[in-house]
Amino acid sequence: MKKLTIAIDGPVGSGKSTAAMRVAELLAYDYIETGAMYRAVGLAALEAGVRLDDAVAVARIAQTAKIDVRWEGRRTRVWLDGREMSEEIRRPEAAEAASRVSAIAGVRESLVRKQKELAAEGGVVMEGRDIGSVVLPHADLKLFLTASVERRARRRLDEMAERGELVAFDRMRMEVAERDRRDSQRAASPLVAAPDAIVVDSTAMEAEEVARVIVLLAQQR
Ligand code: DC
Repeated sequence: MKKLTIAIDGPVGSGKSTAAMRVAELLAYDYIETGAMYRAVGLAALEAGVRLDDAVAVARIAQTAKIDVRWEGRRTRVWLDGREMSEEIRRPEAAEAASRVSAIAGVRESLVRKQKELAAEGGVVMEGRDIGSVVLPHADLKLFLTASVERRARRRLDEMAERGELVAFDRMRMEVAERDRRDSQRAASPLVAAPDAIVVDSTAMEAEEVARVIVLLAQQR
């Protein structure tokens, strides 16, 4: 069977990561989590002590930092200039920094170039915000996952609780809504479904069901 490229986009908490990982596993494809790359650039900028709104300085960091992402043992591992940062990129500061640096066009240019290279051979499930629209406009299959703000806040809370971090539901709902606003209103590659993406509302679906639907769609390509 032909090795496809599958693009999965959607807002925070849409369940896209869990579904994308599962699809990769079921099809024996590589899984590439592009959010981890934005998180790595965010961390690199924090470490370098540059202001996150200094577009020139942050873009230079994105261009020169050596960022390696690898899917190993059912998790994404990340190296920044040879140092493993797999744990650090999951911290809330890294998420916040990633959201800010991802608004910088020069940062996106560097990371998009890298992401295109990573997907060049096919046999990949690439997940992010602009995969179907910008990174892989010719992907064989494009999905855009959505879910209600409440469901997405609940998923985020559950993920954080697994790591021992407890956050109040109302606060999380506000944070999710705020991140949506920022991700969808930025000038550089805002979060939008590609016109040829299949939109899946996962509010009432478990990740496994979403993954199975995607695999069925992939088998029809
Ligand atoms: O999916 P995530 O929470 O790890 O993403 C971190 C931030 O990076 C988030 O604010 C959106 C941004 N991002 C992006 O702009 N484009 C991508 N392809 C992936 C993530």
